[in-house]
Amino acid sequence: MSDSPQGGNLLHEERRFPPSPEFQSQAIAKPELYQAATKNRLGFWADQARGLLHWHTPFTQTLDWSNPPFARWFADGALNVSYNCLDRHVEAGLGDRVALHFEGEPGDSRAITYAELTTEVKKAANMLIAHGVKAGDRIILYMPLVPEAVIAMLAVARLGAIHSVVFGGFSAESLRARIDDADATVVITADGGNRKGSVFALKPAVDQALADGKTNVRSVIVVKRGGNDVEWNAGLDFWWHDEIAKHSDEHTAEGFEAENPLFILYTSGTTGKPKGILHTSGGYLTQAAFTHKNIFDLHPETDVYWCTADVGWITGHSYVVYGPLANGATQVIYEGTPDTPHPGRWWEIIEKYRVSLFYTAPTAIRTFMKLGREIPQKFDLSSLRVLGSVGEPINPEAWMWYRDVIGGGKTPVVDTWWQTETGAIMISALPGITAAKPGSAQVPMPGITLDVVSEDGVPVGPDGSGLLVITEPWPSMLRGIWGDPERYKETYWSKFGDRYFAGDGAHLDADGDVWLLGRVDDVMNVSGHRLSTMEIESAIVAHPMAAEAAVVGAADETTGQAVVAFVILKSRFVGTLSDEEVSQQIRAWVGEQIGAIAKPRTVFVVGELPKTRSGKIMRRLLRDIAEGREIGDTTTLTDTTVVRTINTAVND
Ligand code: WTA
Repeated sequence: MSDSPQGGNLLHEERRFPPSPEFQSQAIAKPELYQAATKNRLGFWADQARGLLHWHTPFTQTLDWSNPPFARWFADGALNVSYNCLDRHVEAGLGDRVALHFEGEPGDSRAITYAELTTEVKKAANMLIAHGVKAGDRIILYMPLVPEAVIAMLAVARLGAIHSVVFGGFSAESLRARIDDADATVVITADGGNRKGSVFALKPAVDQALADGKTNVRSVIVVKRGGNDVEWNAGLDFWWHDEIAKHSDEHTAEGFEAENPLFILYTSGTTGKPKGILHTSGGYLTQAAFTHKNIFDLHPETDVYWCTADVGWITGHSYVVYGPLANGATQVIYEGTPDTPHPGRWWEIIEKYRVSLFYTAPTAIRTFMKLGREIPQKFDLSSLRVLGSVGEPINPEAWMWYRDVIGGGKTPVVDTWWQTETGAIMISALPGITAAKPGSAQVPMPGITLDVVSEDGVPVGPDGSGLLVITEPWPSMLRGIWGDPERYKETYWSKFGDRYFAGDGAHLDADGDVWLLGRVDDVMNVSGHRLSTMEIESAIVAHPMAAEAAVVGAADETTGQAVVAFVILKSRFVGTLSDEEVSQQIRAWVGEQIGAIAKPRTVFVVGELPKTRSGKIMRRLLRDIAEGREIGDTTTLTDTTVVRTINTAVND
């Protein structure tokens, strides 16, 4: 054990959990992976791409970095992503293996084998062809987590078209903005889905988004799930089940070039406008499959894997759909919330399906910690072998609880750091190799090179803190921002030139292990979901009553961060409503503009906002106030009375 000093406010104890000899002896990942990757990084990735995937046309080039920061991986090869996730497993004799154990929130369930999933995807692909879909077209998915969501993604991919999944919690406005930005031609949705014991409607938001008829959407395909009544636009709307029934289950997957776009996923950045992160096929699938197999120690013949993410997020893309299915895994997908109809629902699902590999977010773990260990302890969780965490830093206390209470004190926990932009996991322990350190994401994956640097780009070295950068291109990296190459360069590459700037602060301990410190920009992380302070601010100032707004992410025990808004009213509205009424209106408004996930937890109505002399809002100060801290140095404030006004508002 090293005597790593505690940097700054990092209060971590030096606890280490080496893999047990039993785990180690059966582990998929061997230490030689690291050696191979260090010795010949590109050769290592080429080996992974050849070993894990089927190529319609083998590639001869590994990386083309002649036009940085636009990478091309395996560019002269061709593959079909959907074939890699489906047909080849069936052809290998694994057609009877369950691909998806679907568990609906009301308690209905369905097991779908690889053979059945392949058939459904072929029919769906033929259906999309009949609706005019061809390679390169953009298809929006706005769906609950039901098998049809997975089928739709794979059907789009099968045709070389591009899907963009919009999380069902986003509003009609957000949906429309994405339809426009992607210039989509088809929307696949559902009448509704099940959540917290009732049906939530999705179709009305699609209707609203398309109401003015000014998009290029020509078909809306609707899965029947919620059973709620929906309006019908003849000529535009089609029931999924009617359409599918018309089509044959014969479809031959064609190879597309490795750099063919696979999906666009919108995520929050530091401006008001979400950016469409673009991922392509060969490199993405290679790294998704590689990380999934090695980090979760996947033995596909015996393991049952469950990742609790929704397909609306990157985790649902890489670790519900593409990684696990490329690896021929058997997995659980669950439609609903963890506490419906009772707070032990997740643990009941683990018991029911004998889940062995489980992947979830710290915010969920902290929620369960609060509810108490008696709940999970009522269930048999002995099937679990590996536990994963993603989305935000996991505090050592939650890490220990996860291992002890969910993992029976013996199950390895892997904390995986990555981003929508990185496409796949970049930093993680490997459970049969790494001695785990609670609270640290630890080491780069084999084949990934990173560093922690100062503002000037100088490596901080062991025991230093700074900014996380990735020093060399990686297979599943974003290929750009849809329709905006300049924004791609500016956002990720302008700060350090030749290194990718992740936007996260990090600490390197004396062993060189990485501890993530959260975002250093104006991106918040609420329950593991990315939200932009600017995006919420621009939504608030679009409200007729609001003159100015500032939004900060304040620390929150359960959700990691919470959205806190400071709002100045236009003078004619001052005093017309109570602060409580203003707060309600603003919260509802943000829900409509962006979606319920972006609603501020707290709205403070204030007279002024603290600004620097150059007019920048002092967010740090607002964060101090939102978190109830004493306010520090305010000498740069233009008007120190502002802080007093705000403080009064907060303390009222
Ligand atoms: C944060 C989610 C600490 C980080 C896969 C990153 C984490 C942002 C971790 C990306 C982790 C994700 N430890 N922080 N293990 N995983 N993050 O794009 O701030 O939704 O930049 O991707 O989440 O969020 P995104």
